[in-house]
Amino acid sequence: MTVERTFVAIKPDGVQRGLVGEILSRFERKGFKLIALKQIIPSRDLAEKHYGVHSERPFFAGLVDFITSGPVVAMVWEGEGVISSSRRLIGGTKPLEAEPGTIRGDLAMNIGRNVIHGSDGPDTAAFEISLWFNSEELNNWIPADQVWRVE
Ligand code: RTP
Ligand code: MG
Repeated sequence: MTVERTFVAIKPDGVQRGLVGEILSRFERKGFKLIALKQIIPSRDLAEKHYGVHSERPFFAGLVDFITSGPVVAMVWEGEGVISSSRRLIGGTKPLEAEPGTIRGDLAMNIGRNVIHGSDGPDTAAFEISLWFNSEELNNWIPADQVWRVE
């Protein structure tokens, strides 16, 4: 399986509810490598670009209002199969139907307040990483325990 990078963001509800540490720890314990991390209150322009694929949907304006309403914790994670694996860690879009054990299944109830975003494919991941981060903000590094982690 190839090493990939994905974009993950803790939405304003996750930050307001004090879930940043809980969510970060799930990705860390899984073993993925943290490449970039910052807290940002997204501009309307950024939010509209990020959710541009949904621009014709009835929930678009509310979604943009919500995602710009406060700090978001934006991240890039790296690892084998990290794009689809992150989506599995995150769980389904509707939190009441998301599997227990997933972030949304354990920590959320409302589709409009589902705590976290994750890129849904390789093209989306590349687009979202470059939308939210400059290349200087992406840290290439080798974990000290990589020798026994990999293989
Ligand atoms: P996300 O992009 O935020 O990671 O969520 P997702 O892939 O699981 O779901 P997506 O279809 O991309 O929808 C983006 C976000 O829009 C809100 N939404 N509301 N009211 C509705 O019917 C509805 N549908 C989607 C959700 O907050 C969803 O996370
Ligand atoms: Mg999506």
